[in-house]
Parts: sequence; C-alpha cells; structure tokens
Amino acid sequence: MKAWVIGNWKQNPAASQDVDTLLESLLTAIDDGAKASTELSNSHCNLMVAPSCIHLAAVSTRLKGTPILCAAQNISAHSASTGAYTGDCSAQQVADTGAMWTLLGHSERRQYHQESNECLLQKMTHALAQELGVVLCIGETQTQYDANQTLEVIDGQLSVIKDLLVQQPDIAASLSDRLIIAYEPVWAIGTGKVPTVTEVSKTHQHIKQTVAGFADSLNEMTVLYGGSVNADNADSFAADSMINGALVGGASLKAESFLAIANAFS
Ligand code: G3H
Repeated sequence: MKAWVIGNWKQNPAASQDVDTLLESLLTAIDDGAKASTELSNSHCNLMVAPSCIHLAAVSTRLKGTPILCAAQNISAHSASTGAYTGDCSAQQVADTGAMWTLLGHSERRQYHQESNECLLQKMTHALAQELGVVLCIGETQTQYDANQTLEVIDGQLSVIKDLLVQQPDIAASLSDRLIIAYEPVWAIGTGKVPTVTEVSKTHQHIKQTVAGFADSLNEMTVLYGGSVNADNADSFAADSMINGALVGGASLKAESFLAIANAFS
C-alpha cells in the first residue's frame, strides 16, 4: 500500500508570501530529488498539503501538475454548493479550486466548533457528492486515554462511516479510494507526546477491522497516524505495517522536516 504523508497547515502561515516560500521549497526539493533519483522524487509516497481556506485556491493552482496534492481543512455542512451560509466554503467551491480532498472531523473542529457525527455525516455526503476524497480524523482525549476508553471513543467516531453506508449503500465499492482515516490522539497533537508504536499499531488494527466490518470493500483501509510526528520519530512509525502514513501539523510548516517524514514513509 502506497503511504500518504499529509501536511495540515492549520491556521498558518499568516502571510501569503510565507505560503509561497514554503511551497517553492517543497517543490524545489522534490524536483532536485527527482533529478538526483533520491526518495524525494516522491515515487513511493503520496504527498498532500492542506492550507487554510484563504490560501486554498492559490496553493491548489500552484500545485497543479506537481506531485503534491491539495486538500481543504474543512467544508460546509449546510450545502454542497451555494447558499446563504456566511463564512462557509462548500465542497463544490473547494473542488472548483482543483483541490481533490478535504480533511474532516479534525479534533480542533470537534473541540472548537462542536462538530458531531451528524454534522460530519452531512459533510462527508457533500464532499463525496462533489467527488472530493475525505480524510476523516478520529482520536481520544487525554482523559479518555487515561480511562482506557480509546477504542470505545474511536468506535463512536467511526460509526459515521456506517451511517453513510446505510444512507448510500451504492458507494461502498468506491469508498476505499476516497476515504482515509487519520488516527490522532488529541493528547499527542502539538504536545511532543506520542503513544508507543505498539499502541498505535494495535489501534490501527482495530480501526481497520472495524471499518472492514461495515463493508467487504473496505478491507484495505488506509489509516494514518497523527500527533507530534517529526523528522526524528517518523521512521519508527513508518516501520509498522499497520501505519500507512502520517498527518503532520507543526512539522509540515518546514519543507525540510515535512520531506524528511515523507522519506521515512517512502
Ligand atoms: O493534523 C495534524 C495534527 O493535528 C498533528 O499536529 O503534528 O502539530 O502534533 P502536530
């Protein structure tokens, strides 16, 4: 299975000039890598970045024809296309920029915007209707981890996929190409704390088994790990066959560290 390394830029950088600098650093390194026939040629790893909505169109346009894909960080739950939803961006508007994916259900959206499974079901439906792939983020809080509730919490978050398939059984066959799960323990995000590789591996195994139970066609689900992944620890995650890539926050804001993580998964 070809790994995915996805950079979630969150609400960064502040200036569009810094977005350009980051993008050009990434593209130059990949280009130089291709010329030197190194792993940076990206032949063994899918690379994607998710800029903030204000930069999405510019980034998506710049990345056309390059090996880096572009994703939104979120889409509107209210309408797949247009409407009176001030401040929202729809799946259709995202697709129109050339972006082909969207993150959904990131813990920061769940925490600061109270995103529920009902809301995420609407968003997933809109995304898939506009042919956007979905990176569904799930994960437990520190309190839930301490109470040994990780699998229970994850099962609740994964049930949105089951609900989607109840509503649209006909999409089951194509869903594995358009859905990626990112397991991100909330307590590991931006903290420098990480679960052991064994813990992540067991949780990913559970996620894969659970999703395969929803539909036979979902028996090879791509499951990424996210939470304080950096250039130093990426190798250890990449060595485990249950970990199919990484969703990277802070370390994706520097080309050097992002590409070092990509190399680890290549
Ligand atoms: O979406 C990315 C995750 O929230 C991980 O962020 O790598 O800064 O811990 P982080």
